[in-house]
Amino acid sequence: MIDGTIENALNDQIEMEARSSHFYLAMASWAENQGLNGTAEFLYRHSDEERMHMLKLVRFVNERGGKAVIPALASPQNEFSGLQSIFSSLLEHETKVTASINEVVDLCLSRKDYTTHNFMQWYVAEQIEEEALARNILDKLSLIGQDKGGLYLFDRDLEQLNPEA
Ligand code: FEO
Repeated sequence: MIDGTIENALNDQIEMEARSSHFYLAMASWAENQGLNGTAEFLYRHSDEERMHMLKLVRFVNERGGKAVIPALASPQNEFSGLQSIFSSLLEHETKVTASINEVVDLCLSRKDYTTHNFMQWYVAEQIEEEALARNILDKLSLIGQDKGGLYLFDRDLEQLNPEA
């Protein structure tokens, strides 16, 4: 049976992953409306990915005898000034997710819940990849600057990029 404090922390994490999915869905929709179809595809996949992160937690909490709480979600930011702003927000958001995951890991250690600690290692590894990917995309965008040809290639390349990679 899962400890109540850990259960609450995991439910907070469920909400965070759900909000990530919602946020990236709004970004994807914005990009699609700008004609940035490759970026939109990448962000739609990223949103799906976050839903999977949420689902994995929901199922874990329930399997351990806890009760997963499906959260209500407010409408996320829907307007963006451009790609730089999208990916800066994404990186900023992922940094918060990483901090939150680290807190859950800390809590697991202090409550001696090694099963949840082990489960959370997947998220720890995932965050390293997600932050690195967002930084890489931002580096590319700053190289491109205002170059329209570069932006075209960037958008085309993003269509092939797997957020899981
Ligand atoms: Fe599930 Fe992007 O953190």
